[in-house]
Amino acid sequence: MQTFSLTNGVQVPAVGFGTYLTNGTDDGTVAAALQAGYRHFDTASFYGNEQALGGALAAAGVPRGELFLASKLWKDEMGYENALAAFDRSCARLGTDYLDLYLIHWPRPDDLSAEWRQLDRETWRALEDLYRAGRVRAIGVSNFLPHHLRSLMETAEIAPMVNQIEFHPGYPQLHNIAFCKAHGILPEAWSPLGRTRVLQDERLAAIAAPYGKSTAQLCLRFALQCGVVPLPKSSSPVRMAANLDVFGFEISDEDMDRILTLPQFGWSGLHPDFPRAAQPG
Ligand code: A2P
Repeated sequence: MQTFSLTNGVQVPAVGFGTYLTNGTDDGTVAAALQAGYRHFDTASFYGNEQALGGALAAAGVPRGELFLASKLWKDEMGYENALAAFDRSCARLGTDYLDLYLIHWPRPDDLSAEWRQLDRETWRALEDLYRAGRVRAIGVSNFLPHHLRSLMETAEIAPMVNQIEFHPGYPQLHNIAFCKAHGILPEAWSPLGRTRVLQDERLAAIAAPYGKSTAQLCLRFALQCGVVPLPKSSSPVRMAANLDVFGFEISDEDMDRILTLPQFGWSGLHPDFPRAAQPG
């Protein structure tokens, strides 16, 4: 599979398998994803499925070196000592002694937390130490907006290498993507299909049709052409395979422009700085 390079030379498989809301018990999803060709798996302590994922990967017998395993520390695992302990717990649950990528899941524990800058910086110091110790091949963040990244980078000795955010047609967060690229940070897309919210969109379907591709495949190719690593989820082996079949066509510049200029739609409603309850929908 194609890869994207991080600033330190680590290669990230260009399409990863998202595992949020996959069954905590092994229901065959991971084995099917491996069978379809996925080697990059994205999890988080919050997902509650690290143990099941680790067990399924071990059972499949794929050599650890062929896998790209990413996890994240949750809001209640922030802080220097907490982050070190959280990393050990994630590794133990996944049955590995190193991770390929470790991320801070959200920039602030909640929208009211005034001390988020300090908390982010202390947490980041732990990730830097894990990286220097060779416990993790790359470190980064998730759901950070440019102002959160700027704050972190004021004291960081190692710059974040990845920022995983909501990204799909209708909500491509172009300002954030531009900021990441200007600072050598690889963006990754959670919900690259808008958790199906964007798949019914007739405008996208009309753009996808001439390529002989589904709207889902258009969304994934769109991410790749924006320089973003999509992390689609699926419970169906057929759709898992379809979601990897996105390297044999190219969206034209004109169609990219069309997608990038669609008015906002399909947003999850999640925003790191605002309470979910106050948002429309
Ligand atoms: P399913 O598990 O039945 O395949 P996202 O990755 O944006 O969060 O979206 C995940 C959702 O998209 C899941 O509900 C999944 O359903 C659905 N999905 C995944 N791949 C496809 C596809 N190729 N076509 C249609 N729906 C898909």
